[in-house]
Amino acid sequence: MKVTCVIDNAVRDHSSFWGEHGLAFLIEMKSGVMLLFDTGQSGTVLLHNLDLMGIEPEAISALALSHAHYDHTGGLPALLDRVAGIPLYAHPDLFRGRFSRREESFKSVGLPLEREALEQRLVFQLSAEPTEILPGVWTTGEITDRAEPEGRSAHHLVRGVEGWEPDPYRDDMALVLETRRGLVVLCGCCHAGLLNTLAHVRRTFGVDIAAVLGGTHLLQADEAHLQHVIAVLRELGLPRLYLNHCTGQRAYLTLAQAFGERVASCPVGTTLEF
Ligand SMILES: [Fe+2]
Ligand SMILES: [Fe+2]
Repeated sequence: MKVTCVIDNAVRDHSSFWGEHGLAFLIEMKSGVMLLFDTGQSGTVLLHNLDLMGIEPEAISALALSHAHYDHTGGLPALLDRVAGIPLYAHPDLFRGRFSRREESFKSVGLPLEREALEQRLVFQLSAEPTEILPGVWTTGEITDRAEPEGRSAHHLVRGVEGWEPDPYRDDMALVLETRRGLVVLCGCCHAGLLNTLAHVRRTFGVDIAAVLGGTHLLQADEAHLQHVIAVLRELGLPRLYLNHCTGQRAYLTLAQAFGERVASCPVGTTLEF
């Protein structure tokens, strides 16, 4: 299996790829079948980067979304101009309205399209349970057990019965690849919490985690929490970490200092074979 970072906040020096605050990964199977995980924030960047990679959107066979936020779903309208009839794997809570509060103004930060518009173009495969998308490629299902801190942002809200309430991020899922070297976990934004996500994967799949890629939402993690993350990762057998998007620079440097070459960045264009 080949995994390529199609969208991230960062690009390498002198790269022709475009970056933006967002995330997308392309998973290519040996058979040539391709799955897109998230779509970044804009169709402009998604289509430009896919084009540079020599990928026609029409060749993508399935789509999975980590959660509803615009920086993971904003490329959907452009993508849906080019593909139709492919399955969409996501959590059923994907369609709930998501908002960000800045002072007293509320901005929608969820899906760029209504459910009906998506349903016209995609075949919904919505489930809160782990679901196999392609042979050896799974969604985690809902991360229900959250004993460790979540990857929260204080201004992420949803409308509850009694008014505004914190987003429970029930829709937040990662992907799991079963490879010869062990499990590879592809994170979107890890709002459910990196350690909760990894514990869930370990429990559900019962195999060691060989690598973790993507956004780990450790932006707000303080030193004590980062040291705890390091201790838990050691217990998990030190998976390789390819970190990007919402990981945060301080977390990246702290993990790199602790684990040396087992930690790497994962800007647009990074390709890994498993
Ligand atoms: Fe998010
Ligand atoms: Fe994100």
